[in-house]
Amino acid sequence: MFSAIDMAPRDPILGITEAFNADQNPQKINLGVGVYYDDNGKVPLLSCVQKAEEILIAAPAPRTYLPIEGLAAYDKAVQELVFGADSAVIQEKRAVTVQAIGGTGALKIGADFLKRFAPDAEVYISDPSWENHRALFESAGFKVNNYAYFDSATHGVNFAGMIADIKAMPPGSIVLLHACCHNPTGADLTSAQWTEVIAAIIAGGLVPFLDMAYQGFGAGIAEDGAVVRRFAEAGGPLLVSNSFSKSFSLYGERVGALSVVAASGEEAARLMSQLKRVVRTNYSNPPVHGGKVVATVLTTPELRQLWEEELAGMRVRIKEMREAFVVKLAVKGHDFAFVRDQIGMFSYSGLNKAQVEQLRSQSIYAVDTGRICVAALNSRNIDIVIDAIAKVL
Ligand code: LMR
Repeated sequence: MFSAIDMAPRDPILGITEAFNADQNPQKINLGVGVYYDDNGKVPLLSCVQKAEEILIAAPAPRTYLPIEGLAAYDKAVQELVFGADSAVIQEKRAVTVQAIGGTGALKIGADFLKRFAPDAEVYISDPSWENHRALFESAGFKVNNYAYFDSATHGVNFAGMIADIKAMPPGSIVLLHACCHNPTGADLTSAQWTEVIAAIIAGGLVPFLDMAYQGFGAGIAEDGAVVRRFAEAGGPLLVSNSFSKSFSLYGERVGALSVVAASGEEAARLMSQLKRVVRTNYSNPPVHGGKVVATVLTTPELRQLWEEELAGMRVRIKEMREAFVVKLAVKGHDFAFVRDQIGMFSYSGLNKAQVEQLRSQSIYAVDTGRICVAALNSRNIDIVIDAIAKVL
């Protein structure tokens, strides 16, 4: 029965890491995947994580199953981070949170949950969006459409197109939005534009699903989370997936969460029972370690402070790399000033597929769409990257 099965296409992002890993060139540079590297080109082990692990090792615990919805201390800490500790949705017990296998796992729980209760709804994602958004919602059985988002002429958001598309969506449609640090473009909405988007979504009876995988990489933890709070305050159903892969540099631990906001505490309890069913039939319950680490950091004041400082350090370094990228390309006669205005880990560089392929032949890896991970640039590799880009332009 297996003989007729075709080869699946390479994953557009993780497939690049596979090609990168196979490259024997010691000078190779991976600007493909969304991973933060420090100035030495290493994925950092955050001090707050190390200290939390020391606390956990000092009190060894058996590895029992977690509850289906995950570690209670983790789910509570996530809610407070995502909605704000003083949020009405928390006080009124209208928010439910389940620990998830990274941000992707959170999206999948949300997608399966929505498919069960809104089987005929269609999903709308930004054009472009993270490659896996479409695949993930399609694999949950949804028809996935695009709404206008990126304007390649300005390298910013095509807001008129976006808002027009949102206003044209049928009631009940599911709108996937990037809460901050838009992946792949690095182009975010302004606060005033969010006001319009929130109003249009409420007026249209749409279901917003906010994906927040990069909280803290834009303007700051609270600043980046502000839009989630605004949606929660505006009322209506809301789903929020979040991830600690990047903000805690815990990629391989797969630590994320899905939060859903209900109209009442009683409704929230029903939603939680159904979310648990989705989790139970997918992977039963989440792993222990990453959730414990994140919960320990978020609930221990000095570790929390340390995390905020370390995250700020990553954010600032990315901004410095943006600046260096713009300045160094300007010296070579190329105007990439827009990279300075983009935010988060990524830049939609404007490089086309042929140019990306040329870079790859020099062992510099980027996504075919021209997305580059600015967080993978450092003081040693930036000149190599700039020279290579200038050559292919
Ligand atoms: C990315 O966009 O590169 C990251 O979110 C990693 C992934 O899973 O694709």
